[in-house]
Amino acid sequence: MITGLWIFFSIAGCLFILKMVYALSVAVSIPVTAGALYVSTSHVRVMSFLNEVKMAPGQLFIDIGCGDGRALRKACRLYNVRGIGYEVNPLAFLKAKCLSLGHKNIRIFFKNFFKDKLSDADVIFCYLFPDVMKQVSKKLKSELKPGTVIGSCNFELPGFVPEKVLRPGNSLHNDPIYIYRM
Ligand SMILES: C[S@@+](CC[C@H](N)C(=O)[O-])C[C@H]1O[C@@H](n2cnc3c(N)ncnc32)[C@H](O)[C@@H]1O
Repeated sequence: MITGLWIFFSIAGCLFILKMVYALSVAVSIPVTAGALYVSTSHVRVMSFLNEVKMAPGQLFIDIGCGDGRALRKACRLYNVRGIGYEVNPLAFLKAKCLSLGHKNIRIFFKNFFKDKLSDADVIFCYLFPDVMKQVSKKLKSELKPGTVIGSCNFELPGFVPEKVLRPGNSLHNDPIYIYRM
């Protein structure tokens, strides 16, 4: 009985601490992200995007707000591209860094992507928040070279016309992924 209670409270305590760490990391990043939480895109959705957007070895794939970096790792594995991720949520950044150890083609920066030029990208991937999409559109329009492909999960880029809209899989993964070409 005592052992059971001890195990229960230990697990509950660990879960509580994890929740607190998550909440704290969101709280410190929210002034930059303007509401975009650290929520990962499902593997089904990332794969659906990568199967649609073929890349050549050595091309540059950038995830602006890379979360745990899963899209970068999958793109590198599938196409042998170079990957760059920007992340301002400390928990997501640490996770992305740890999980990407050993992937020498991937670089992850603890940095606001608005502060860097994205002009070398061949493919941009994002899953941000509606409040910033207008600003993101403006930045991408002014920096990206013709032919660069952009994938935006869930939210449209104002001022762009999608080349295609993916709706991958069943109802769990069915939110749109908008694909644009500069
Ligand atoms: C919804 S998550 C998506 C994560 C990842 N792209 C994925 O699809 O799994 C959005 C992430 O973008 C990050 N983010 C939002 N605005 C950012 C900015 N200006 N610079 C860097 N990271 C940003 C957030 O911290 C959050 O972790």
